[in-house]
Amino acid sequence: MIIGGPSSQLLAGRVAAILGQELALCDYKVFPDGEAYMQVLSELEDPVTIIQSTPTDRDFVHLLQLLDVCQGRRVTLVVPYFGYARQDKIFKPGEPMTARALAAALNPFLEGSRAFAVNIHAPSVMSHFSCPAESLDATPLLAEQIRSMDLNDAVVISPDKGAVNMARTAADRLDLPCDYLQKTRHSGTEVSMAPKEVDVKGRDVVIFDDMIATGGTMATAIALLRKQGAARVYLAAVHPVLTGSAVLKLYRAGVEAVIATDTLEKAVSTVSVASLIAGAISR
Ligand code: R5P
Repeated sequence: MIIGGPSSQLLAGRVAAILGQELALCDYKVFPDGEAYMQVLSELEDPVTIIQSTPTDRDFVHLLQLLDVCQGRRVTLVVPYFGYARQDKIFKPGEPMTARALAAALNPFLEGSRAFAVNIHAPSVMSHFSCPAESLDATPLLAEQIRSMDLNDAVVISPDKGAVNMARTAADRLDLPCDYLQKTRHSGTEVSMAPKEVDVKGRDVVIFDDMIATGGTMATAIALLRKQGAARVYLAAVHPVLTGSAVLKLYRAGVEAVIATDTLEKAVSTVSVASLIAGAISR
């Protein structure tokens, strides 16, 4: 049985359809005081797979509620987008390692379970789970979508060193050249980039990254590449967090199109990770 949390209903439905498993009916509400309420209305079967991304604190509470309901059953946990994964280190004294704290909150429910995320920002986060935990790679799915597009003399770019592996995986699959930009982050919303080496003049460019949040990283990269004469610039990202005016920033910078997956269900989520998750569950 598949249980879809409120932030992953479409993805849970797609996974259930691929596996031919029942999709539980759940009710999600908010009490007048703002507290989250949920109820699984279907009779629970064993084993269960919970699929719930956690882009917000509320989504994390719903995940805890779902795990509580499923206590005593064999649970596979899938958190396609694991929020706070960028808080994976203690950067300054007095800071928490929030990603570790969140994994610790889930661990009491995960005895004998297994957990999956998709392209978690910092792979080290998976080591904080007490059960076997794996980050699945959606890059090949994004690459297949890129392959179906009519690109001209294309090059794959990573906006920073952190996404280089992802960009290389995509470039190898597509048999395209690959490079990265030097990124410096000045604040939560401000980044700058130094020029890179590959000549993009007149070429289509696909920038790969694990996530687009404020859009600051990608908007800066698009503007830089356009300035260097790139023809069309496409973005391929696993997690379309897209906070605030991110989409406006990307289009103002001159993006041709944004391609993302349904780890977060947005208008740009045209690539589904359902097959990836279904494969992992049935392994
Ligand atoms: C950073 O290392 C990540 O891979 C992304 O590049 C970054 O988190 C995107 O954030 P934003 O869209 O706010 O620049």
